[in-house]
Amino acid sequence: MGEGRVSYSAIAAFLLLQITSFCSSSPLSTNSRWIVDDASGQRVKLACVNWPSHMEPMIAEGVEKKPLSEIAQKITANGFNCARFTWPTFMFTRPEYSNLRVSESLDKYNLSAARVGIVKNNPQILNMTVVELHKAVVDELGRNKVMVVLDNHISRPGWCCGDKDGNGFFGDVDFSPEEWLQGLDAVANAYKVNPAVVGMSMRNELRGSRQNEADWYKYMELGANTIHTQNQDILVIVSGLGYAGNLGFLKSKPLAVSLANKLVYEGHWYPFGIPADKWTSQTNQLCASVIKATSDNLLFLTQGDNSFPLFISEFGINQRGDNEADNRYIGCLLAAVAELDLDWALWALQGSYILREGTVNLEELYGVLDLNWDGIRNPQFLDRLQVVQQINQDFKSEHPTYYKMLHPLSGHCVQIVENEIVVASCKNASQWEQHQDEGPIKLVGSPQCLGVAVDGEAPRVSEDCSSKWKFVSSSGLHLAAQVGNGGYLCLEMNTSDSKLVIKKCLCVGDNLGDLPTCADNPQVQWFKFIPSNI
Ligand SMILES: *[C@@H]1O[C@H](CO)[C@@H](O)[C@H](O)[C@H]1NC(C)=O
Ligand SMILES: *[C@@H]1O[C@H](CO)[C@@H](O)[C@H](O)[C@H]1NC(C)=O
Ligand SMILES: *[C@@H]1O[C@H](CO)[C@@H](O)[C@H](O)[C@H]1NC(C)=O
Ligand SMILES: *[C@@H]1O[C@H](CO)[C@@H](O)[C@H](O)[C@H]1NC(C)=O
Repeated sequence: MGEGRVSYSAIAAFLLLQITSFCSSSPLSTNSRWIVDDASGQRVKLACVNWPSHMEPMIAEGVEKKPLSEIAQKITANGFNCARFTWPTFMFTRPEYSNLRVSESLDKYNLSAARVGIVKNNPQILNMTVVELHKAVVDELGRNKVMVVLDNHISRPGWCCGDKDGNGFFGDVDFSPEEWLQGLDAVANAYKVNPAVVGMSMRNELRGSRQNEADWYKYMELGANTIHTQNQDILVIVSGLGYAGNLGFLKSKPLAVSLANKLVYEGHWYPFGIPADKWTSQTNQLCASVIKATSDNLLFLTQGDNSFPLFISEFGINQRGDNEADNRYIGCLLAAVAELDLDWALWALQGSYILREGTVNLEELYGVLDLNWDGIRNPQFLDRLQVVQQINQDFKSEHPTYYKMLHPLSGHCVQIVENEIVVASCKNASQWEQHQDEGPIKLVGSPQCLGVAVDGEAPRVSEDCSSKWKFVSSSGLHLAAQVGNGGYLCLEMNTSDSKLVIKKCLCVGDNLGDLPTCADNPQVQWFKFIPSNI
């Protein structure tokens, strides 16, 4: 019992810290590429999870499995401070959708088991209209200090997204620009008085054959002004073309809106389209090319004089762990998201859907929660997100004061504990100086450096700074140093005891005149220097 009390208070203190450092009750604005709290001027980082309410029944997923308050608590308990909560246009523009009661919507789709679950877990919602339920969910999130980004996910309620689903671009059969603007106006108005709502995502994943830049500029400008005119407090979040993958055209032509520091861009980042066997045989090369493409299309927005916050509003993996393309891409993504300290929203919270694509109670393998919304599907994956849930850089200090050495495969950072070099929580990461390629890796404020020893042994931390560390693979994530006059060996985390060891470089390609040994997963040897000043 005593132990239980201790750990409970430790958890409570941890949560309080999260809430006080991340959450906000005043409106948010932008300051260059950062999102800041208007009242305190402090940086606020959106560490969100997606929660859908845009499927055919227009009922927030999970209400048939757990009480709303419990779902909201699960969001904060797992380190998220925000939910990207979806809505379909018709729900706010067409009375036959808006006025539907939850019980009627359940009947319409014969969802009798979901009705039984709702009677048990959330009986108060059965007689609400779907719009009243949407507001009740946002209120519950607000009560739990979860910030809300409202995402216009689709027009006609249902699973999203395909090229030819009629909801892809302005002018598609279900995507009238006028009705879309009417919906944005209605939602901005409906949530005007609710401080939990910090932003609105204008439209999810524009796509399909009608896409073109001229219409994109025209309607994004109209949409942004519609939201901002109705509600000047909230962030206006704009996504690009190609399933929210591309905003590269902004380099030559900026969006002509003046929103008084409320404009945020968003992008989605999935590994779709690249087969798993390609990821396993070319992990480093693919990581490099994916980072290059994402930099050109999205990440560039956070750089330079005219920078903006970039919200990676969807990314995620099959959390059962059996999709090797997902497993390889996520390490590459986490390194980049941590380095830039981006705002983000994981896909997804839900362990299941009430009804998706004709299947009742369909499991979501990308969901944080399990099928019954009880436990966490993959605690190790959530643990990996901690480094991006925390704020690493505060905008107030222009330059990083130190670097954390992130090991993206574990989500942990290099730490020196009683002369042993281990990979452990990034909250206690050792502080390193900026690393120059082929230079030493030095501890901040200390004469000590990281040095190679012998193949298979731990590296040393000592005043011997003769080891020069080189990035040796195209991913830029392998660090190797020469042992004596011999070849290069790489830094690796021993996955059994989380200690650093020096090992033969895996899968680095021919940079070192070495044959790739790509049967191994090179991610055990991936490290990224994360600029930090907190
Ligand atoms: C619901 O059930 C009724 C009666 O069994 C059936 O006629 C109807 O087609 C069903 N509706 C749906 C959407 O499955
Ligand atoms: C549902 O709500 C409506 C209006 O709020 C009310 O008129 C009606 O009696 C309620 N029905 C039930 C079954 O409670
Ligand atoms: C960080 O280090 C402090 C002091 O050594 C220790 O008490 C704490 O448990 C560590 N926290 C984590 C998350 O490792
Ligand atoms: C990795 O850790 C295990 C468990 O401590 C140990 O038996 C093994 O020798 C270590 N491997 C290397 C290469 O150090």
